[in-house]
Amino acid sequence: MVNAKDSEIISSRSNEFFDNQWKIYQKVLNSNYMGHREIYDVLHKFLLSYFQKPFKILELGCGDASFTAQALLNTSVESYKGIDLSQAALEIGNSNMAAIKCSKTFIEGDFSELVPQLVKNQQDSFDAILISFALHHLLLKQKDYVIGNLSNLLINNGVLILIDFVHKQDENRETFIRRYLEAVQKNWSLLTPEEYSMVENHISQSDFPETQETLYSIAQKHNFNRVECLYCDSLDTTQLLCFYR
Ligand SMILES: C[S@@+](CC[C@H](N)C(=O)[O-])C[C@H]1O[C@@H](n2cnc3c(N)ncnc32)[C@H](O)[C@@H]1O
Repeated sequence: MVNAKDSEIISSRSNEFFDNQWKIYQKVLNSNYMGHREIYDVLHKFLLSYFQKPFKILELGCGDASFTAQALLNTSVESYKGIDLSQAALEIGNSNMAAIKCSKTFIEGDFSELVPQLVKNQQDSFDAILISFALHHLLLKQKDYVIGNLSNLLINNGVLILIDFVHKQDENRETFIRRYLEAVQKNWSLLTPEEYSMVENHISQSDFPETQETLYSIAQKHNFNRVECLYCDSLDTTQLLCFYR
């Protein structure tokens, strides 16, 4: 565990994503290949308008929180808790979040295990929960389980913000992945052939997007009484969805 003045990093082990894919992901972010600039601009405006009073936010799969820090700038955030599998990413996240003046905690671990523990402990509740490009690694049943638990961590009028790949009604996982990879091959021109091959392997093996309809029906099942799509990219692959308690 590393303690800083107004932040804390709780950690225990190392991580495959950071070791193997981190450099490529930084290239993807810097080139805006996944649309982070537009998405997090929408998120920033939403946080400014939805939270007029101090709010507590939990982020799952926060990585180095670089875009989250930009989205939280000048908002009324009171506390931030970030969870990620990678201690190394959390260390960078701690410095990326330096400009955000609120209490901060970074916890290394698997959010599928840590979220049910937070619910069980009954010590934490949040006004907002953010999951950006991390839920799609779970299978449908696991997504349902995590979203059900997250519902119990939100206060009334709290919001679950999901940024993720979403496939169309008339396609399945395979056709979505083929379509996405065609766009990657065409547009992610700064990737070397070796890097493209790593991206292709990762997406083919680890990405399990759902349709917007499936995500909405999971949300409704777990007592989110309103859902809203605040962003959809021009290729119809990525969305920012809000589920309101
Ligand atoms: C594609 S990156 C997304 C990072 C950042 N949220 C963003 O939108 O750019 C996925 C991140 O989620 C983390 N992650 C994936 N599955 C996780 C899990 N089950 N528990 C905690 N972190 C997870 C990875 O370590 C990685 O940092």
